[in-house]
Amino acid sequence: MSMQSVASPAVTFTPPKRNSLTHIPGDEGWPLIGKTLEVLASTHGWGRILGLLFPRGLMLLDFDEHRLHRRALSVAFKSGPMKSYLAALDTGIAARVAQWKAQPGPILFYPAMKQLTLDLAATSFLGADIGPEVDEITRAFVDMVAASVAVIRKPLPGTAMARGVRGRKRIVAYFSEQIPIRRANGGEDLFSQLCRATHDDGALLSTQDIIDHMSFLMMAAHDTLTSSLTSFVAALAAHPQWQTRLRDEVAALGIAAGAPTTFDNLEAMPLSEMAFKEAMRLKPPVPSIPRRAIRDFTFKGYAIPAGTMIGVNPLFSHHMPEIWPDPDAFDPMRFTDEAQRGRHRFAWVAFGGGAHMCLGLHFAYMQAKCFARHFLQNLSVSLEPGYTPQWQMWPIPKPRDGLRVTLSPV
Ligand code: HEM
Repeated sequence: MSMQSVASPAVTFTPPKRNSLTHIPGDEGWPLIGKTLEVLASTHGWGRILGLLFPRGLMLLDFDEHRLHRRALSVAFKSGPMKSYLAALDTGIAARVAQWKAQPGPILFYPAMKQLTLDLAATSFLGADIGPEVDEITRAFVDMVAASVAVIRKPLPGTAMARGVRGRKRIVAYFSEQIPIRRANGGEDLFSQLCRATHDDGALLSTQDIIDHMSFLMMAAHDTLTSSLTSFVAALAAHPQWQTRLRDEVAALGIAAGAPTTFDNLEAMPLSEMAFKEAMRLKPPVPSIPRRAIRDFTFKGYAIPAGTMIGVNPLFSHHMPEIWPDPDAFDPMRFTDEAQRGRHRFAWVAFGGGAHMCLGLHFAYMQAKCFARHFLQNLSVSLEPGYTPQWQMWPIPKPRDGLRVTLSPV
């Protein structure tokens, strides 16, 4: 079956009337901001937030069409390709940590992490030999991501949305020109994998599909990894005893400072993974997941009519005291096998759940643990006494002042 023939039936919703939800506690608020209005009017939860800049990204597809595309993309996340991404991440992280080590002292960590994540995406997603265009492409991409959460949704001159739309044009031109080259040359980066990926009938993904999936994948990876790795480092800076425990875990791997990180090394870092999960429990990179009810249903005795916009809220679930005692405390031991036994499977949903669950979650763990290995093997991180970083949680958690930390060589 060719992909073009399986487009999902258009799902159109009539938003429920305002007074049809009055039996639910709380109020609907005043949808004063353009984005709020558009989200309420859209047929897909994410469509209006991401549709203009990332049309037909995997998360925006539904039902059969989504399943088929998700299967085609999955080849890029199998262990062979993942090993080559790990090699690219490892080289990039080792080099950046060496730079930080050579210039220890105070650093604004959030922008530093954002830059590192971008640079890593350039090599692991696009290939090490992307060439002189790299700065222009990453700039175009950053503009697209910034525009996706901009309040003004029309590309009026001088707005983030206008820059985003211009960025998308540049990215589309770059990918279009590169696809035939990548098909001919091979290459182990994620883009080259998608250029060679096929549907079940053996047909290659179309140029348009590759462009849409690539832009979406870069977007899905970028701010989430920047946010989660910044929360992770902030937690280690605030909890030196945990920093020491994880450094001991890295030391126990027995790998020389210059040696590459392997899959086996990452497997042997369970405490680092638990600490990363705990950082994302406290500050989930996607704090709210928009959905729309496709049929009438009942939740906790409340009738929810079809078409109702639903905000699944990881930030709320991750702080429910009945599931997470002392919910604001940083305690990675919440994620031991024993502590997790019997816990609701959707109690921790940093990567979502169900049909749209994050496709890149192993990529994210890989990057986080590879980062932990190099960072902790070479540096210690601390906060000035009396300094408590303030965070904004929406639309993606980030420290308001960029997170002032001090790095010292170990
Ligand atoms: C810590 C990092 C990350 C977090 C917290 C995260 C979180 C999420 C969440 C919550 C969703 C589900 C959204 C929904 O159900 O509406 C999602 C979907 C997705 N993520 Fe991630 N993500 C991360 C990293 C990545 C990376 C590194 C990639 C790619 C390399 C990626 C690719 C995707 C894709 C393709 C989807 C859509 C899946 C689908 O619709 O079938 N993510 N992510």
